[in-house]
Amino acid sequence: MKPKSRIVNIPVYQPGKPIEEVKRELGLTEVTKLASNENPYGSAPSVQQAIAAELTQLHLYPDGGAVELTSELAASLGVTSEQIIFGCGSDEIIALITRAFLEPGDETIMADQTFSVYKSNADIEGAAVHEVPLKNGVHDLPGMLAQINDHTKIVWVCNPNNPTGTIVDEAELVQFMDQVPSHVLVVLDEAYYEYVVDGAYPQSVPMLSKYPNLVILRTFSKIYGLAALRIGYGIGGADVIKLINQVREPFNTSRVGQAAARQALRDQDFVKECRTKNREGIDYLTGHFERLGLSYFPSQTNFIMVDTGHPAMEVFQSMLSRGVIIRAGHHKYPTYIRVTVGTARENEIFIRALEETLQERTAAV
Ligand SMILES: Cc1ncc(COP(=O)(O)O)c(C=O)c1O
Repeated sequence: MKPKSRIVNIPVYQPGKPIEEVKRELGLTEVTKLASNENPYGSAPSVQQAIAAELTQLHLYPDGGAVELTSELAASLGVTSEQIIFGCGSDEIIALITRAFLEPGDETIMADQTFSVYKSNADIEGAAVHEVPLKNGVHDLPGMLAQINDHTKIVWVCNPNNPTGTIVDEAELVQFMDQVPSHVLVVLDEAYYEYVVDGAYPQSVPMLSKYPNLVILRTFSKIYGLAALRIGYGIGGADVIKLINQVREPFNTSRVGQAAARQALRDQDFVKECRTKNREGIDYLTGHFERLGLSYFPSQTNFIMVDTGHPAMEVFQSMLSRGVIIRAGHHKYPTYIRVTVGTARENEIFIRALEETLQERTAAV
């Protein structure tokens, strides 16, 4: 067998460790997973009812174009249906964008510590990746602009950024978009959009009428609590969305996913409630980080990145042995861990385990 040479060294995506695996390996009865930025409150009860109602229809193919869902979402965003594309998570939209736009010889620009799926897909398509260092955990938009040349096809702006949780504000984004040449697509990944409380956060959808080279990504996996159903979307100019649609598989979202997403959009009370509880969690966690003298990036998401002052993989192992799964291994931040904001009880368990871990690590050095 001879695979494409450029895919041979692409790493397989490493998800957060599954709870059941950790329980088995460590013989623990309770494990707290705060590693994948899932919603600890699940999904709305009304959405669960919509899912149950759809279960009698599983013998039927889904509507490939997700027409009803698209039209409801378009109405709520104030755009047309032609400006929206649904995917098997926003992960798939990222893959479709790279499939539609990148080929060997092309260049793409992203932050040096951001969502890894942009780079893996660019590598698959054989494009050259330019990584621009974050500045204090925030996208350096002027630095990214300086990297653009005639070969540049896509700039990725993860806003808020995963893993740092930071945002670029509306003024910075507008200034950037005004200078990006029209041949360059800007992908603005807003997977955590609904969690943001900072008033300076860009309202990006109205910007679409001014910038035909802008595509926004959002998802039902995060605040809507539907990660298992794999449904996310892109919003952009009709011309760009058509190109992305040309490389989409015919039935890329499921009936259950579409039904759930439709109801989820209607149930904005659930979203508000989750956002409020998430903020309480952020306040609780940052309060303890300050008490422990740990620095952290200001987060507008449902996760937070904190500097433990010790090698993060050691902290990860030590937390794991206490039944708490977090995320480590961020190459630019070797002493930082990323923790998802859990329920009040999960956050307490995390802080207890972190404190014990820090005492253990300090004693070990
Ligand atoms: C920044 C960012 N974008 C996109 C995704 C993909 O989400 P999904 O494919 O579940 O929609 C994630 C998931 O963690 C993310 O953090």
